[in-house]
Amino acid sequence: DLPARVTIHEVGARDGLQNEKATVPTPVKAEFIRRLADAGLTTIEATSFVHPKWVPQLADAEQLFPLVSDLPVALPVLVPNQRGLDRALALGAKRVAVFASATESFAKANLNRTVDEALAMFEPVVRRAKDERMQVRGYLSMCFGDPWEGPVPVHQVVRVSKALMDLGCDELSLGDTIGVATPGHVLDLLSELNEEGVPTSAIGVHFHDTYGQALANTLAALQHGVTTIDASAGGLGGCPYAKSATGNLATEDLVWMLRGLGIDTGVDLGRLTATSAWMADQLGRPSPSRTVRALTHK
Ligand code: HMG
Ligand code: MG
Repeated sequence: DLPARVTIHEVGARDGLQNEKATVPTPVKAEFIRRLADAGLTTIEATSFVHPKWVPQLADAEQLFPLVSDLPVALPVLVPNQRGLDRALALGAKRVAVFASATESFAKANLNRTVDEALAMFEPVVRRAKDERMQVRGYLSMCFGDPWEGPVPVHQVVRVSKALMDLGCDELSLGDTIGVATPGHVLDLLSELNEEGVPTSAIGVHFHDTYGQALANTLAALQHGVTTIDASAGGLGGCPYAKSATGNLATEDLVWMLRGLGIDTGVDLGRLTATSAWMADQLGRPSPSRTVRALTHK
């Protein structure tokens, strides 16, 4: 049985734009987020409060957040440490995400820490965020394969997933950062997580479309009962600290499939596609999303 309703966790403004070579002007980012909200998306990741040298594309977080914080949607932000949480709290953010790695190589590249050092860094962040009554998401990257280490064993992913839940995260997002997952692997991981006590209701999925498997993987996750799906408008994105990562699952491709399955998302596909076409013009290159191209005849 498929779920009747799905929450799309829109990551284009964060995961998408963090990977653009050109830095997008702050007012353009704000307009992007406003248009995404207007298209009916209700959870729109806005930016990251990370070190500006590590992700210069999002160095304007302090300027951007106040330009969109009046929107009647959830605007989660990424915070790696106490400093990031301080910055997010100062601006009135209500949802935060920490971001762990299932592999040592990516933990080092992305956070300058071992996997366990990163978890130790998140511990006081999650505790304080929960004290502040924030909703906390725990991202987990490289859940299927890693550019340096190859295929990632399921038990390794389960260990870090449980550690994130034990810290107090409300929700996990399982990242296929380099887009190598296939549906059987997705189902193996979800089943193993359930067996180890992580309920499907706490699990979101975050697929990248490198091998064209993102929608197949999403369908497998839906059939397993997952109702939170990450996607990026126009298929923007990748990851600056994982070279082989290509774009995220495009929100338009996801909405097209869900609409066909009769699953409610509340998203207006016409408005969303127009927004991604507009953003593609701003970036000076066409959207990689098949659905955006089909609907805009580009
Ligand atoms: P570090 O160099 O080890 O930092 O980086 P540190 O803790 O040693 O601190 C060094 C300096 O940075 C200090 O300043 C701190 O104050 C400052 P100094 O005293 O030297 O002047 N600093 C900060 N400044 C502003 N904001 C902060 C902050 N923290 C420290 N939050 C650090 C460690 C975690 C900071 C760094 O590695 C970092 O910022 N990493 C972020 C990388 C990132 O954002 N990656 C992309 C997101 S993950 C992703 O995209 C995957 C995902 O989409 C899912 C998937 O697809 O898999 C989520
Ligand atoms: Mg990603």
